[in-house]
Amino acid sequence: MASESIQSVYATALRNTHALEQEALQAMERQVERLTDYPEVKQALTQHIEETKRQQERLETALSGLGESVSSVKEAVMGLMGSMAAMAHMPAQDEILKNTFANSAIEAYEIAAYTSLLTIAEAAGDHASIPAFRQSLAEEEAMAARIRSMADAITTKYLSLTTSGDAAQAST
Ligand SMILES: [Fe+2]
Repeated sequence: MASESIQSVYATALRNTHALEQEALQAMERQVERLTDYPEVKQALTQHIEETKRQQERLETALSGLGESVSSVKEAVMGLMGSMAAMAHMPAQDEILKNTFANSAIEAYEIAAYTSLLTIAEAAGDHASIPAFRQSLAEEEAMAARIRSMADAITTKYLSLTTSGDAAQAST
């Protein structure tokens, strides 16, 4: 394996995490446009969209500390994340359930990504960014917990909408 500088490994990790947040952002924005029956989900996503923008700014700050920027970088669509993000906007009768599963997967992916990024940031000696990335990690964990805690109520509401006259109308 070719040897790379820790700074270059770190820059790659920052860019990948930024691209990940971009995917997540787009997936959430598409959902928010379409959410009408689930205001609590809409509220959670709207709040997390704002958090995600700040998370991207934290990554941009760390990149500029390395003398790099994100604007020149093509944001790579990541395999699994790309699929999850795509899944999060497929129009289907059970769209809300699929979105919930996809949102849950996206947050789990982000939690792992920030856990790894924190280790790399530490190894690269970027101590200034550690509290910022810990904050991002805490936000992802809170969002993951929030999605999990809503899953039951979402499904119950989905069942009631789908098995009533409302849903029969909506699906025509
Ligand atoms: Fe997130």
